[in-house]
Amino acid sequence: MASWDYSPAPESTDVVRIRDDYGLFIGGEFVEPAAGEYSKTINPATEEVLAAVPVADERDVGRAVSAAAKAFKRWSALAPGERARYIFRIARVIQERSRELAVLETMNGGKPIRESRDLDVPLAAAHFFYHAGWADKLEFAFPGRTVEPLGVAAQIIPWNFPLLMLAWKIAPALATGNTVVLKPAETTPLTALEFASICEEVQLPAGVVNIITGAGATGAALVRHPDVDKVAFTGSTEVGKEIQRAVAGTNKKVTLELGGKAANIVFEDAPLDQAIEGIVNGIFFNQGHVCCAGSRLLVQESIAERLMDKLKRRLQTLKLGDPLDKNTDIGAINSREQLNKIKSLVGSGVDEGAELYQAECELPERGFWFPPTVFTGVSQSHRIAREEIFGPVLSVLTFRTAEEAVEKANNTPFGLSAGVWTEKGSRILWMADRLKAGVVWANTFNRFDPSSPFGGYKESGYGREGGRHGLEGYVR
Ligand code: NAI
Ligand code: MG
Repeated sequence: MASWDYSPAPESTDVVRIRDDYGLFIGGEFVEPAAGEYSKTINPATEEVLAAVPVADERDVGRAVSAAAKAFKRWSALAPGERARYIFRIARVIQERSRELAVLETMNGGKPIRESRDLDVPLAAAHFFYHAGWADKLEFAFPGRTVEPLGVAAQIIPWNFPLLMLAWKIAPALATGNTVVLKPAETTPLTALEFASICEEVQLPAGVVNIITGAGATGAALVRHPDVDKVAFTGSTEVGKEIQRAVAGTNKKVTLELGGKAANIVFEDAPLDQAIEGIVNGIFFNQGHVCCAGSRLLVQESIAERLMDKLKRRLQTLKLGDPLDKNTDIGAINSREQLNKIKSLVGSGVDEGAELYQAECELPERGFWFPPTVFTGVSQSHRIAREEIFGPVLSVLTFRTAEEAVEKANNTPFGLSAGVWTEKGSRILWMADRLKAGVVWANTFNRFDPSSPFGGYKESGYGREGGRHGLEGYVR
């Protein structure tokens, strides 16, 4: 048990001004949805209603796509250095308004302020800075080739990193001369709508970025729209497959970033205390709502007991509670729907005979919460070893040899990321060669950088985001 306590240290919410209701950002203006329909967005830590947000229908999608198509002519013809300046200004304003954006992200999504402040928002700014740099250097990104933008990019993002996923999508699209219609997830629209006001602030030409809100039906209408030239999606594998069916036989270019079930592999020679921090970060970062989360821990048998003791002790020190508190490690689950999914998969783990361990912690009365959870005695056939839980739930398996570790790690329909913990450099390279994952981290986990491409194998999707590779998805 922890031998000390923290006093509450809540971040002030004075810095954000949330409106009662929002409009759709189309052609540089906030407009009402054609059907006049709105849905309420809440704070998942308190269940308090934050704002009413429009539900865009087919007519609104049509308006947004034509605004983007109209803006494309001017935007793509602009001198690349001019485009770079707009993108650079966006990055600067994100930095200037970082505190406000971090608080808003935490209020709407439930993630700890420590993460939105130190990771989501700075990385979002970094993505715009990085891509501002590419805008006038595309001939160096594609040496010997002449590339052209595609046109209108339809971008659909999830709720786990709302502003960061927006940045991953919009920055490369603008840098390569495309225009955008972006739809945030229905549970976390507020930072995207705030981003619309950043576009106004930097005087981005009207229609270059359009933000429409709504749920799955809005996303589906956007994907199907005939004047869309590119679809970029991050979310569930199920919807990814649907999108693939919807664009089959069209000329739309598609990139999909879908789920994962990453193996975090710890060898007996690994620095154990460091590995414990990597395991905790790998699965409890953002309540485990991370596509590349290290949700399967593979431990070499000889150290399994010692590592589990240490891990259980570490779990007891994690602070769960108010996401706005600067000491909080584990915030709220993003939605009731996601909480139910986590509960149901954890239930299946118990039913199938795995052994459950949960940190003792008090869950707040209101809001959606799930305690840090570890399953031992997990076999490869268990659902908790195969399906993406997308919550603070770790499944532990053991292995004896490196070959066995590789076989178990690759025994999944996914292939987004993996982690390797060992003192031996040669073993890291040997493993990285054999792991079927888009990213392999060595003696660390969940590291992100705009210059480093990110993406998956198999059912984790295709195409890369970030780096030079990420530009490829936005040009012909
Ligand atoms: P989802 O894939 O339904 O939602 C992601 C985005 O797609 C949202 O903006 C949503 O409105 C939109 N969408 C939904 N149906 C659509 C359709 N037919 N056409 C176009 N857009 C559509 O994900 P959901 O239901 O929120 O979460 C379910 C599971 O998916 C999670 O439990 C998790 O396992 C996984 N997931 C993975 C993510 C990742 O980063 N790889 C992100 C979010 C969820
Ligand atoms: Mg869904």
